Amino acid sequence: MNVILITGTSKGLGYQLAKQFTQKENLVIGISRTATEIQAKNFHHLSADITAIDFTQKLKAFLKTLSIVNIDVLINNAGTGSFGNNISNIEPDEVLQQVDLHCVSALRVIAGARSYLKNTKIVNITSRLGSITQTLRGDFKGRDFSYAYRIAKAAQNMLSLCLANDSELANAVVLSINPGLLQTDSGSSDAEHTAEQGAIAVITVIDNAIESGIYHAFGQEALY
Ligand SMILES: NC(=O)c1ccc[n+]([C@@H]2O[C@H](COP(=O)([O-])OP(=O)(O)OC[C@H]3O[C@@H](n4cnc5c(N)ncnc54)[C@H](OP(=O)(O)O)[C@@H]3O)[C@@H](O)[C@H]2O)c1
Repeated sequence: MNVILITGTSKGLGYQLAKQFTQKENLVIGISRTATEIQAKNFHHLSADITAIDFTQKLKAFLKTLSIVNIDVLINNAGTGSFGNNISNIEPDEVLQQVDLHCVSALRVIAGARSYLKNTKIVNITSRLGSITQTLRGDFKGRDFSYAYRIAKAAQNMLSLCLANDSELANAVVLSINPGLLQTDSGSSDAEHTAEQGAIAVITVIDNAIESGIYHAFGQEALY
């Protein structure tokens, strides 16, 4: 039985990931502020805000109550979109909040789970909008995407690279996975796939990936 820790399991992609990993007989630990509608002996839920200053301690204490020795897959999925998309409506505090949610809190989760990370696949759910390469080459020209979300996902991508290059995590595989455009509360109006399809695709990438790197769940280009 593999142990899978997932953040953002109350809805959207994270809920579907938790549901599918639970159905596959893994031991699943879900984290979100609101409850997750999964009732199963092999699903444990921690109601918590991953941006809270005491979150790391809370996670450590929760993990101690479970009979686990290792976490096989840790998925930093929790995240939402944001708004300000040009210099007249961007709020600097919104950038702080998004970087906290998508990047700093991913690190809080890893810190809380640190003593269980041996040969672990660490997954950060990224977005094409965090890609500096794609932004530089003009893929999003004329599209008014949120400053805060793009900055936060770019910061998260750098976190993934730092983790992948960390000698203390030599046996970890660090995956940045772009889940594709999903029909969720945070998804765009032209989203192509359901959250259920997204979760199937993300799990396939996790199962098959043997090297750290950036991946697209539906096989499209994914760039840092
Ligand atoms: N949808 C897309 O098309 C798309 C595309 C590219 C990347 N992504 C990424 O995929 C991930 C999942 O997105 P989604 O579309 O499934 O979003 P969603 O449906 O809005 O779900 C977001 C999840 O994150 C949790 N969350 C948010 N803030 C939290 C906090 N402070 N503490 C704990 N949990 C928190 C929410 O739970 P609570 O509110 O209950 O806490 C919820 O379970 C995100 O990282 C997003 O950036 C999505």
